[in-house]
Amino acid sequence: MSKKSLIAFAIAAAIVGTSGSAMAADAAAGEEVFKKRCSSCHALDKAKTGPALGGVVGRQAGTTDFKRYKGLVGADFEWTPELLDEYISDPKKFVKTHTSNKRTSMTFKLGNAEERADVIEYLKTTN
Ligand code: HEC
Repeated sequence: MSKKSLIAFAIAAAIVGTSGSAMAADAAAGEEVFKKRCSSCHALDKAKTGPALGGVVGRQAGTTDFKRYKGLVGADFEWTPELLDEYISDPKKFVKTHTSNKRTSMTFKLGNAEERADVIEYLKTTN
């Protein structure tokens, strides 16, 4: 590698390094996201407009005592951080991709990837 490309490589690595750490998921920030964006429909310990979310990471989807599951009826997977990220970013699309259902009763999307990562990090702490 020439000296010039070595420098370019070092700069690129530094940039990737910084943006990587800025994106690191933060459970405390995630709790705020949960309060602002999710708590109108979700509580941790009981069903509201949506199912209880305490301990959702690692749980079989669609299996709380919530009565109005629609998109997650009969879901055959457990929630991983990756699946949660995909679900929260677009529940309708997720349901079409991952279940045999066509509609979801969760009429909300969280478009901001950092907020999604934070809220998932927070949900992990509720297990
Ligand atoms: C407008 C109300 C509403 C908002 C806001 C909302 N949800 Fe939901 N959520 C629902 C409903 C209703 C369901 C059930 C979906 C279905 O079965 O189709 C659901 C389901 C879920 C599930 C699946 C739970 C299970 O038992 O499998 C997760 C995870 C979830 N929501 C996360 C979130 C997160 C995180 C937020 C905030 C970023 C959020 N939701 C915001 C209404 C909402």
